[in-house]
Amino acid sequence: MSKKASIGVTGLAVMGRNLARNLARHGHTVALHNRSEERTRALVDQFGDEGDFIPAYSAQEFVDALERPRQVVIMVKAGAPTDAVIDEFAPLLEPGDVIVDAGNAHFADTRRREAALREQGLHFVGTGVSGGEEGALHGPSIMPGGSPESYQSLGPLFEDISAKVDGSPCCTHVGADGAGHFVKMVHNGIEYADMQLIAESFDLLRGAAGYSPAEIAEVFRTWNTGRLDSYLIEITADVLAHVDASTGKPFVDIVADQAEQKGTGRWTVQIGLDLGVPISGIAEAVFARSLSGSSELRSAARDLGGPTRAPLADVSGFADKVEQALYASKVVAYAQGFNQIQAGGAEYGWDIDLGRVAAIWRGGCIIRAKFLNDITSAYEAEPGLPTLLTSGGFRKAVEEAQDAWRSVISTAVSLGIPTPGFSTALAYYDGLRADRLPAALVQGQRDFFGAHTYRRVDREGSFHTAWAEPGRPEVSA
Ligand SMILES: NC(=O)c1ccc[n+]([C@@H]2O[C@H](COP(=O)([O-])OP(=O)(O)OC[C@H]3O[C@@H](n4cnc5c(N)ncnc54)[C@H](OP(=O)(O)O)[C@@H]3O)[C@@H](O)[C@H]2O)c1
Repeated sequence: MSKKASIGVTGLAVMGRNLARNLARHGHTVALHNRSEERTRALVDQFGDEGDFIPAYSAQEFVDALERPRQVVIMVKAGAPTDAVIDEFAPLLEPGDVIVDAGNAHFADTRRREAALREQGLHFVGTGVSGGEEGALHGPSIMPGGSPESYQSLGPLFEDISAKVDGSPCCTHVGADGAGHFVKMVHNGIEYADMQLIAESFDLLRGAAGYSPAEIAEVFRTWNTGRLDSYLIEITADVLAHVDASTGKPFVDIVADQAEQKGTGRWTVQIGLDLGVPISGIAEAVFARSLSGSSELRSAARDLGGPTRAPLADVSGFADKVEQALYASKVVAYAQGFNQIQAGGAEYGWDIDLGRVAAIWRGGCIIRAKFLNDITSAYEAEPGLPTLLTSGGFRKAVEEAQDAWRSVISTAVSLGIPTPGFSTALAYYDGLRADRLPAALVQGQRDFFGAHTYRRVDREGSFHTAWAEPGRPEVSA
């Protein structure tokens, strides 16, 4: 009998091809399939010597090439194509077989697909994969959802090909049905926030300190040796140091200042609203991209009055202050993201280990950072932590950073440099620590115009004031 494959990959564009190669390079026999045959042939032609591949040119041939229980990884364009591929393969599979969707699906689609395939006795595993094409080939961060049974067979394979940090695989069973894609979604949302905060730091160092992109690249390189040590800081330094070959100008100055926002960043904010979790750092990052892309609006409003940017007279110590503001804002953005995962877990019944999530983001993915070790430690020390901001190490670091944080935002405001990420992070921090919030007044307004009632600080119950007749006491509702 001919050799069978322990896993198969269908969808061999850049991500699927690299994931298949990664599996084969780790000694696993991989069945290959793609809607159009060329990609399958090209993979075997170019990389066939990297390991054991079994190319298949029909769905049946692909399924027949797999050991039981069969494990089929789908890596196609997210959305309708994923449903089309599931519809093609599910009838050919048997109870106990596993279908993995490793594309960027919305977790609600994953929940729907998992429920439907469970009816047929199939395991459906929505899996977050982070790290882009390089990660897929050399070791991504992998976030599988689905049933614990499916992880028994799939887990060892995925752990094998994932990134490793301190010998530990960047892959864990995140939780049931859509948990993996939910966590991947929040990961991407946090990525948006992190990038925005770094971009604001650059803008401040340029606008308020008058540094050149090359000088700012050096500042980022220094930061990358400390607590901000991360992939995003590292690549930011490289991008800022890059000079455009055709003009000799800093690369950052020849790029149109209009960023894209679509997909998972937007989903994270939408779900944050649905769950009632204030993820203002991620939301501001998505909105900042929307504003950047609103070219007609920006042209129409460019002559609005306000301060012009001029470097500060004394810039000594300013870069250090920006580092502190960036660090504190970053802690807030991550704290909000982890609270969103916590809220998603509570809503959908997933038992997500937040410390493990931070641990598997330490390698392979875009937000990999030294900082994530501290998040893992915080949740290990206190699994029920209400927010990262109250954990010992982060509390102390943010309290120490806050004078600089406030000063940097004041400078930005006085010079007219927009810092939505820094500002919303500080507003969130101050909102959390406030004794009283003006929400009390909002409740009064709501009761006035809509008889929405309010609760009192001194008595139990729900109250309404008869506003139309001044002097009439409130009544219990
Ligand atoms: N690119 C990244 O950095 C990255 C990172 C993480 C996750 N992802 C996710 O990974 C998945 C794959 O990404 P990608 O960039 O490699 O590929 P992609 O451009 O998103 O999709 C191309 C692949 O989908 C297949 N496909 C499209 N419509 C199909 C249909 N109706 N039926 C069957 N197959 C269909 C294509 O087959 P044909 O060759 O026949 O056209 C091709 O194999 C996506 O969900 C993406 O969001 C991508």
